[in-house]
Amino acid sequence: MQRLQINSITKTYSNGVKALNNISLNVSNGMFGLLGPNGAGKSSLMRTLATLQYPDSGQVLFDGKDIFADPQQLKKQLGYLPQDFGVYPKLSALELLNHMAILKGLLNKTERKEQVQSLLQQTNLYEVRKHAVSSFSGGMRQRFGIAQALLGNPQLLIVDEPTAGLDPLERNRFHHLLTEIGEQVVVILSTHIVEDVHDLCPEMAVMANGQVVLQGKPDQLTELLQGRVWKKSVSKAALEQYQQNLQLISTRISGGRFEVHVLSDTCPDSGFEPFEADIEDVYFSSIAGLIRSGKEVAAC
Ligand SMILES: Nc1ncnc2c1ncn2[C@@H]1O[C@H](COP(=O)(O)OP(=O)(O)O)[C@@H](O)[C@H]1O
Ligand SMILES: [Mg+2]
Repeated sequence: MQRLQINSITKTYSNGVKALNNISLNVSNGMFGLLGPNGAGKSSLMRTLATLQYPDSGQVLFDGKDIFADPQQLKKQLGYLPQDFGVYPKLSALELLNHMAILKGLLNKTERKEQVQSLLQQTNLYEVRKHAVSSFSGGMRQRFGIAQALLGNPQLLIVDEPTAGLDPLERNRFHHLLTEIGEQVVVILSTHIVEDVHDLCPEMAVMANGQVVLQGKPDQLTELLQGRVWKKSVSKAALEQYQQNLQLISTRISGGRFEVHVLSDTCPDSGFEPFEADIEDVYFSSIAGLIRSGKEVAAC
């Protein structure tokens, strides 16, 4: 069942930047990964879905209802963790979450206490509930951010780049928490980290320059590239030549040399080896404009 339908959303800011250019997406229950480089328009889309800003044109339906026609109704069902959730007063986690619960409209004291305690437990912050949030590590802050977003049992959870800056252990812990949540509600997660989507999301979309350039299931998209990715370790001079002549997916530096990944239906040049395509190849190919939803990949 599609719960969130985004139809042809467009948004141009007053400085002339067209941050969203005809975005359409369908999202069902579970984790949806929105992957894209900085400036792609991810945060713009998320602020729009949270009804914090309005599109110039287009429509968004949540469970069949137009969210811009009745933003208050949407806000009752929404949990949002913005990318720059950055104000951490010297209150304890317990006090701050309780305060935020009041703001969210949880006025019954017993229910509020129960929910605050259970969210602190779920996000593994119960032991440190009396510590100031300002003293928390990056991972703890993000888990606190999720706790506040989950107040009032939202049906739609929007989390904007929650894993940026987390160390691998914290990221892993955060992934577990999101997976648990994703079983019950619609979660839209934006990230520029390919592993986030690979580990968490049964459905994904890639955004670039305000557009959705690719969408689908990570495994199926990866399958699309099988047998068409080739790898070679090259010098700088050879790299420059290949940049002009071949469809370069990505260049990684390894041991002072350049490891290039190339998209081609046949072996592109001597010394290339076939490479089993992964989600990173999918991501970089779509960003480079080599593949796009609905279109076949041109042979080089
Ligand atoms: N409030 C704003 N006013 C003007 N331009 C903005 C504003 N917010 C974002 N932009 C621009 O819109 C584009 C998309 O930005 P953003 O949505 O933040 O992308 P992402 O989250 O993928 O990095 C960028 O070019 C950015 O500079
Ligand atoms: Mg952003």
